[in-house]
Amino acid sequence: MERTAVYPGSFDPITNGHLDLIRRGLNVLDRIIVAVAINPAKKHMFSIEERVEMAKMAVGDNPRVTVESFDGLLVDFLKKCNTHILLRGLRAVLDFEYEFQMALMNRRLDRKVETIFMMTGYKWFYVSSRIIRDVVVAGGSVEGLVPDFVNKKLQERFGRK
Ligand code: PNS
Repeated sequence: MERTAVYPGSFDPITNGHLDLIRRGLNVLDRIIVAVAINPAKKHMFSIEERVEMAKMAVGDNPRVTVESFDGLLVDFLKKCNTHILLRGLRAVLDFEYEFQMALMNRRLDRKVETIFMMTGYKWFYVSSRIIRDVVVAGGSVEGLVPDFVNKKLQERFGRK
């Protein structure tokens, strides 16, 4: 039986922490669908098109990884993908409450859904899209924490380089 998981998130932008999780996820899963949330209620730095394009470029040409956008309920997107497995990364205790809440809500919405959590690689423990955005807005460097082309795009957005 082929094991496909959906790895959902805002990916605003995709970071090396996300990529590390995808790489390690592929050690236990056959296929990963990176699902970029459209969520018009949330203010994003990058448009959905940009977030999908960056994620696609970052994952590269791997037949086991695809990138798609989704709107509405995650459990409905899972059905569309013919899977009941969700993949999420867990950093320190900070993430736990939010992730626990989401996993339980998703399971309430669809009893079959199971969320698999993988610990974030220690190198990326403190990296989140939000902190990346904050640092760039304030003029700091995020080199080495996101793919180089993402770093370039972030700098360009703020008229640097
Ligand atoms: O990267 P993020 O912002 O932590 O990702 C959150 C995301 C997109 C996974 C979550 O907001 C989501 O699943 N949104 C879709 C709407 C939904 O299904 N909500 C119910 C689950 S709590």
